[in-house]
Amino acid sequence: MKLGRLNHVGVATRSIEQSLATYRELFGAEPSAASFDLPAQGVRVCFVDAPNAQIELIEPLGADSPIVKFLDKYPAGGQHHLCFEVPDITAARAHFEGKGARVLGPTRIGAHGTPIFFLHPKDMGGVLTEIMESPKQAH
Ligand code: CO
Repeated sequence: MKLGRLNHVGVATRSIEQSLATYRELFGAEPSAASFDLPAQGVRVCFVDAPNAQIELIEPLGADSPIVKFLDKYPAGGQHHLCFEVPDITAARAHFEGKGARVLGPTRIGAHGTPIFFLHPKDMGGVLTEIMESPKQAH
């Protein structure tokens, strides 16, 4: 198992629009595409591209969104998770489970349309960590 490319840093926010205004004003940065809903994960997301990785802005979708508690704890929003790519999500999951790391929930389709899962922050030095299968290259 090799540490893969950092794909994105997840940032929780109460308002993607407000966060985008900040990125626009301070960095001249624009989102790479319009924000979109991920109802299965209870979030709305929007990506801002940096040259070597993305920022994933995450806004709660509904009162039972998994990031509501995070925003209760950090009302101004903040850094929520890191996401690393792996070539094979099934092999990666087996690897982490074999090491005794806690995998949170089932493997599911993430914001980039590829399978993902999360590792418990207690097994990652306090950092919620998303593992994402690399998008296949278009042929
Ligand atoms: Co993410």
